[in-house]
Amino acid sequence: MDTYLVTGAAGFIGRSIASELLARGKRVRGIDNFSTGKRENLRGLEALDFIEADINDATAVAEACRGVECIFHEAAIPSVPRSVEDPVTSNHAGVSGTVQLLVAARNAKVRRVVYAGSSSVYGNTPTLPKSEDMLPSPISPYAVAKLAGELYMQSFTRVYGLETVTLRYFNVFGPCQDPTSHYSGVLAIFALKMLAAETPTIYGDGEQSRDFTFIQNVVHGNLLASEAPAERVSGKVFNVATGTRITLNQAVEILRKATGYSGEVRYAPERGGDVKHSLADIGLAKQCFGYEPLVQFSEGVERTVDWYRTVAKPVIAGAGGER
Ligand code: UD1
Repeated sequence: MDTYLVTGAAGFIGRSIASELLARGKRVRGIDNFSTGKRENLRGLEALDFIEADINDATAVAEACRGVECIFHEAAIPSVPRSVEDPVTSNHAGVSGTVQLLVAARNAKVRRVVYAGSSSVYGNTPTLPKSEDMLPSPISPYAVAKLAGELYMQSFTRVYGLETVTLRYFNVFGPCQDPTSHYSGVLAIFALKMLAAETPTIYGDGEQSRDFTFIQNVVHGNLLASEAPAERVSGKVFNVATGTRITLNQAVEILRKATGYSGEVRYAPERGGDVKHSLADIGLAKQCFGYEPLVQFSEGVERTVDWYRTVAKPVIAGAGGER
């Protein structure tokens, strides 16, 4: 049976991919150093062969890659504002860590690496929707690191013949996303605040828009990309999103319905390094590996809020902490 490796397996996206692979009866290894990943995210993943180590630890990563067929590379410090505050750490995890992993993958003769790219590489270019043939224009250090990772993927395909696929995720949300840090994704923060009857803060006028993508769509995209014929996907970059966009003001209204929150919304100055609008063209992923979103925004919000309400109750009870 093939073995899969998920980097960042204790993070929101990594644990979701690992969980689906295990549900499909696959043999799965995970690596995470818990820098932003959470031990509680490994709950329910007891069948995972887990290695606690940093992605920059060459020995541990070489060990993790041994006998692996395909890697899902999700490890990173996932935040635009955190990268603005600390670009060195963001670069170390995102860029050096990616090179370490690629070297280990090449040495271990791994067949394919599927890489977590980001919509942030498009920056503030005015054209919508964003398609993969547009010139990237990253603003934040996070976006630069994600783009560098993509280029390393392509380099390793061209130079060493390692199959790589980059999936540019667009604002992923869903169960298991950490809502407790001010670096968390906006929907996670707002869902938690509203359930706790606390006032959410919108940075800017709330008219910024995002192609918010429910986690199940991203997991689906990863599995399809891992199975697609190399000639269709290897060395290439694909958007994985929904092809629709929602403003923050609209998202708040949908969250109000899901959470029952009827209080105020606070407005504060726009955040540095922010992108105004983001919307994906998902035609290429559809054409090359049959990707289509499975879950639309409102349903994703319902499922996310349900999860925070039930499973993450203790977190909600402690709301008002770090944020
Ligand atoms: C960006 C990327 C996304 C990536 C993520 C990783 C873009 C378009 N998207 O997300 O693909 O996965 O980084 O971190 O570049 N906001 C509030 N109040 C809050 C928190 C956030 O108003 O309490 C606003 C932000 O200012 C921003 C929007 O909500 O305008 C979305 O922010 P966030 O969820 O942090 O994600 P992006 O930075 O858009």
